[in-house]
Amino acid sequence: STPYDVRDAEVIVVGSGLAGMTAALQLAPRAVTLITKTAGLPGGSSLYAQGGVAAAVGPGDRPEDHAADTVAAGAGLVDAAMAALLTRDGAALIRRLLADGLPFDRAPDGSPLLGREAAHGAARIVHAGGDATGRTLVTAMAERLRATPSVRVETDAFAVDLVLRNGRVCGLLACHPQGWVLHRAPRVILATGGIGAAFARTTNPAEATGDGLAIAARAGARLADLEFVQFHPTALAVDADPVPLLTEALRGAGALLLDRDGRRFMPDEHPLAELAPRDVVARAIGRRVAAGEPVFLDLRPALAAKPDGFPTVLALCAEHGLDPFAEPMPVAPAAHYHMGGVVTDADGRTSLEGLWACGEVACTGVHGANRLASNSLLEALVFGARVARDVAERPLAPLPPFALPRPPAVAADVGHALLDAIGAEARTALYDGAGLVRDELGLLAARRKLDRLAAALDTLRCEDGEAPPAVVRQWGEARNRLLVGRLVVHAALAREESRGAHCRSDHPLPNPAFTRRTLTLSDLAGTA
Ligand code: SIN
Repeated sequence: STPYDVRDAEVIVVGSGLAGMTAALQLAPRAVTLITKTAGLPGGSSLYAQGGVAAAVGPGDRPEDHAADTVAAGAGLVDAAMAALLTRDGAALIRRLLADGLPFDRAPDGSPLLGREAAHGAARIVHAGGDATGRTLVTAMAERLRATPSVRVETDAFAVDLVLRNGRVCGLLACHPQGWVLHRAPRVILATGGIGAAFARTTNPAEATGDGLAIAARAGARLADLEFVQFHPTALAVDADPVPLLTEALRGAGALLLDRDGRRFMPDEHPLAELAPRDVVARAIGRRVAAGEPVFLDLRPALAAKPDGFPTVLALCAEHGLDPFAEPMPVAPAAHYHMGGVVTDADGRTSLEGLWACGEVACTGVHGANRLASNSLLEALVFGARVARDVAERPLAPLPPFALPRPPAVAADVGHALLDAIGAEARTALYDGAGLVRDELGLLAARRKLDRLAAALDTLRCEDGEAPPAVVRQWGEARNRLLVGRLVVHAALAREESRGAHCRSDHPLPNPAFTRRTLTLSDLAGTA
């Protein structure tokens, strides 16, 4: 039968993006096991983040102003105290990273070059390698992590489920290439990122299947704001998975949105035109694209203003045989960021004893209904560090003895093709039914499809399944996609209004009765 190993750890971190690596590094010299399903470090969406990190470090800028912009973007649902904490801690942390010599782009006097992005009242986007901010940051972190002997990194390891006894987290069951491993540990930090890859069109990497959210949901953790999914307005309109991102910083540097006749349309949509809030721009583009009218981003003004500013964008266009110096680039919105997630407090504690969450999987309340551009890397850094401090300081009683959990068994004859087909159908159902613009009929249709697929997936379990680890992982990812999809649809149906990133064509206005966060304690989880 499949080998089953038991390993003891003090702290488990799940995820290899910016939040997970930050937490693991900050916990040194305490022993940490970092589990990631990717083949190496770094993984996750942070690597793909282009624009930068928002922080009030420029002359005259103040964390209070950054917090006010964050609250305004969140359309009535931001937790103001959390936004104050994010922006205050964030400015101090970025100053420290600058002083530490992290390779941010700088003026000759050493001060950071600051970019501008939508709905920020000041130029406050710190960046690195032009538009390679995420890559630069996580590459530097991964190097530090490799040089930190207290962190044991387990790659190709798929986290399946938490192990709980009397409501307390006692470890994590993971599927490794060699077989099952029970990581027995009193403290688990989820830093698994978002759910973009549960949607058909996304800027997120393939690994963003919502694993942490699904794991927390099945364990009964409190979840919130699940209906709020941010669609990035300007993904390159090419047939690729993920779709390449054309950073918002391009519009900050002067790039213009054009309709098929070469006319700008954003000035008629919003006083801030191309720099209107992200959801406004995404819907203005999405409406046209849905009506069969292509939309273009003319990068040339930005490329002229910042000739060295966008190497990542230029490389992505070139990969698809496109020349942004010669002509405007076709763009369309794509699923980009999940504002909702596992409810945490200011120290990243979830509702379950022994479980913390940070980064995109968490819902701290800083983003409300709509995240402000470049607040996500900041959140990963700030809350990754806060979680580490809390985990290190928090005394916990020793683990109670408990019986070894049985791993979910998948039938030996289940093949990749069948799981691929279920995954693809689920992604299309969610994108079509719970995309940029939603209505009750579409959401109900998505729910029916996702329920049917979840039932089909469930029939692939069997008592003594012997599927190889690669199939178990794919089965587990499909299970997670379906659960997070059903949770998003559930929350989107309940919110009968339009607010921030959640747009209901059948309830087009905000409704003051909904000026509260949607809390979910998953009753769907038991069935998935
Ligand atoms: C971008 O560079 O446009 C994405 C940045 C973000 O999502 O905050």
